[in-house]
Amino acid sequence: MVVTLKILFLITVSIIQYGQSTDLRIDPLVESNVGLIRGLRASDGDYSMFLGIPFAKVNESNPFGNSSPYGRFEEIYEAYDDSLMLCPQYESSKILGNINCLYLNVYVPNTASSQNRLPVMVWIHGGGFKTGTGKITETGPKFLVKQDIILVSINYRLGPYGFMCLDIPEVPGNQGLKDQLLALRWVKDNIEAFGGDVNKITVFGQSAGAISIDLHLLSVHDNIFNKIILQSGTSLAATVLEAPDKQAPIKIAEFLGFQTESIQEALNFLTGTDPNLVIAASNSLHMLFKPCVETAFDDVEPFILKPWINAKVTRVKGMPILLGFNNKERWFEYVNKDSDYFDNLNVIHDKLVQTFNFNSTKLTEMEDIIHHFYLGDNKIAIEFRDEIGDFDSDYTYIHPVQRSIRKYIESSAENIFYYMFSYGGERNWQKVKQNEVKFQDGAFHADELGYLFDVAFLTENNLEDLFIVEQMTTMWANFAKYSDPTPTVTELLPAKWTPLTKDKWYYLNIDSQLSVRSRPLHERMAFWDLFYETNKVEQKGYE
Ligand SMILES: *[C@@H]1O[C@H](CO)[C@@H](O)[C@H](O)[C@H]1NC(C)=O
Ligand SMILES: *[C@@H]1O[C@H](CO)[C@@H](O)[C@H](O)[C@H]1NC(C)=O
Repeated sequence: MVVTLKILFLITVSIIQYGQSTDLRIDPLVESNVGLIRGLRASDGDYSMFLGIPFAKVNESNPFGNSSPYGRFEEIYEAYDDSLMLCPQYESSKILGNINCLYLNVYVPNTASSQNRLPVMVWIHGGGFKTGTGKITETGPKFLVKQDIILVSINYRLGPYGFMCLDIPEVPGNQGLKDQLLALRWVKDNIEAFGGDVNKITVFGQSAGAISIDLHLLSVHDNIFNKIILQSGTSLAATVLEAPDKQAPIKIAEFLGFQTESIQEALNFLTGTDPNLVIAASNSLHMLFKPCVETAFDDVEPFILKPWINAKVTRVKGMPILLGFNNKERWFEYVNKDSDYFDNLNVIHDKLVQTFNFNSTKLTEMEDIIHHFYLGDNKIAIEFRDEIGDFDSDYTYIHPVQRSIRKYIESSAENIFYYMFSYGGERNWQKVKQNEVKFQDGAFHADELGYLFDVAFLTENNLEDLFIVEQMTTMWANFAKYSDPTPTVTELLPAKWTPLTKDKWYYLNIDSQLSVRSRPLHERMAFWDLFYETNKVEQKGYE
């Protein structure tokens, strides 16, 4: 029986290759280690898609706790639909998703086979650990699979379901990161059956996705991937350094009308409550749930047990890394605000408090120095929103990326390819989302996503933008194939992207013209180098 089906798979693959001309349509069937999975042929390219493969189960009696591997399929699993691939979240003023959301998608070019194994790229989406999805509508594969790589995109629980951190064995913390771990293990165990090369797994992610990947390297687990691409985020990003709220379940339960002093009672109540209400309540309470340092318990698999701020990332030894940032990361927060907003803005103070333990005298002193650096003697006001945007970009993402680069160099990473994405076109993800597409040049946070993926809401396809898509996907896939984004100089990629060295921080400026330069934003970065050198022990989570 199994033998017959294996043969059926081979026949299927060859039929797919001739499918266009013969008009034969047999769906691809793959015999994986967890059973048979049937997918669909794509209509927008020469590839197959396996949508909504379940890789883990959320515990019904404790949806806030660790999930477990999904296990085997008893019958052929029909991977035709990823509509359940959306974890509970509050997004664009709506509450979306369902708690049974741990699925992944696999996209396989028709060229993949057991004789021609292709490199694998696994995408971990961003969204601040509270929103986002790996669904095809956000990560449409047609540009990347053209590059002869297998693309996988995964889901993980978000917000209170993914990141409550309570120092109890039932909810130890980092549940969402453990979901990712189960997904990565699933890929490692099964991707060969799809024609993937298990020795060439590149994990890539943006923002919270990139932060997650860096945290996998700092976790107690072995590496399950060979290379990484970190877009606008590392474990030092200022957004992940706040201490978790250990009383969160009590507060959410109370908001929903259930009074208790007991964490356990509150959790029991929330387990029986519609996830939509739990998400709505956490949102109304402005609660944030992030990766955290866990307490160890017997029989509970931990993820991270030690603070990571100054921990060495020893597991990057020998690992090729591609990483970078967008030149106007946080500007999107300020571009469409009115002048009243700026009158009440205390952003330097607020950001410092998030990540430093300064006493009030020191806090004021540091705030003043930073203020003078970015704004001189000007007050915070709408006229200076660009300067404020620069401060926020540097503090939240750009300088953290540079501090991480230093760590990777110290731990002898292999080649590090550094980029600054500065292109402003009509597929800039954030700008289109915020209706700011005409706004100046440069790139906001997440803007590069439109040049890697076929995103449903990005409908513009002008030639200049598609040229950037071609460049980005070729470089990203080259990195997955050869550990070098520009192995040869071509008409498409006329600049040789040199890896950085300890003394020369080369980077590729990705704009209408590709150019290799060194030390991006060096004056601003030198300011922060000094700032952190002086104040490092006062960082939250420094040991
Ligand atoms: C599910 O959660 C319940 C309650 O915390 C626990 O007793 C049980 O062991 C969990 N099951 C699994 C498979 O983890
Ligand atoms: C505030 O902290 C600084 C060191 O960070 C210390 O020198 C100073 O004495 C502290 N001031 C007060 C009032 O505690």
